[in-house]
Amino acid sequence: MSNAVMQQRETFEERYTLPPIETIHDTAEEIRRKQERIRALCTERKAILLAHLYQRPEVQDVADAVADSLKLSQAAAKTDAEVIVFCGVHFMAETAAILCPDKAVLLPDLRAQCSLAASVTVEELLEWKAKVPDAVVVSYINTSAAVKAESDYCCTSANAAKVVAAIPAGRPILFLPDQYLAAVAARQTGRSDIIAYPGYCHVHKMIQPDQVLEIFDAHPDIELLLHPECGCVSSCMARALDGTLPRDRTFFLSTEGMLRHIEQSPASEFAVGTELGILHQLHKRFPEKTFYPVNPNAVCAFMKTITLDNIIHSLETMTPQIRVPEEIARRASRAINRMLELA
Ligand code: 13P
Ligand code: SF4
Repeated sequence: MSNAVMQQRETFEERYTLPPIETIHDTAEEIRRKQERIRALCTERKAILLAHLYQRPEVQDVADAVADSLKLSQAAAKTDAEVIVFCGVHFMAETAAILCPDKAVLLPDLRAQCSLAASVTVEELLEWKAKVPDAVVVSYINTSAAVKAESDYCCTSANAAKVVAAIPAGRPILFLPDQYLAAVAARQTGRSDIIAYPGYCHVHKMIQPDQVLEIFDAHPDIELLLHPECGCVSSCMARALDGTLPRDRTFFLSTEGMLRHIEQSPASEFAVGTELGILHQLHKRFPEKTFYPVNPNAVCAFMKTITLDNIIHSLETMTPQIRVPEEIARRASRAINRMLELA
């Protein structure tokens, strides 16, 4: 795998504003009342509420489905609801709007953006494509609709290797925007012709090798589950190969992949390298198992902008709605549907 030389106009961090993370002081009774109001509004509006695994616990608990970005796209594609309330970030709501052009897609807070999606613009992709004209473009789902419209395939962390493996050898692959996911996909498929864009998620990048080593020192029998966006993946793949980390207990998994893995694993303790929101679902689904976050500060401020209050406001006012221009949606849907067919 080689790294692209990109003409970056500014640092990735200059491209987005991190919203403050609001601490909510609702009592259990207030939470229950707000959740009831949301369920009543969903019935009234014929709405389905989809929540990503990184959402606040009380938002996950009121949702019709809680899953990773792939499963949420699949749920959006097949729902017969008239309204989709997307409790996730902007690119996920855009994907739902592309897959469901006849439905209203609500994103309760427009500050719910994504640092990784912000790292690549459509102009940068066009510039990159012009430099490697025979390449196949694979875009992570964490990209804007405009970037997807210029891509051949879309992928998520759950199926990146599968998508890459489906591309005939002999053509270089421009993989964007996550450099760490690109490294995992290259390793899992054995492809040396992946050219990676240098983007990253500011949350997963903070998950570093020294934290992994510390957690193994403290809990030697754990299984290590790392999201492929983590900053430590290349180092951990190398360490799993040279035996510094236990190879049979080190896994690179999407959020949904982590849930599936834990369900069938005989292990009782896990180190979890991803955003902390997933812990709520892990404790709920596997109360007898123990989970340690690899980095207890891995919190996505964008995901936490969605609250029970702004979901209620969004359903009451039917705003903000996410719309994708028709031509962009038509072209982006090719890349998304190719992925869904493979999934
Ligand atoms: P998943 O594809 O695992 O849901 O991850 C999406 C995301 O935003 C990861 O940070
Ligand atoms: Fe984007 Fe990272 Fe937040 Fe996921 S965790 S939505 S990749 S900023």
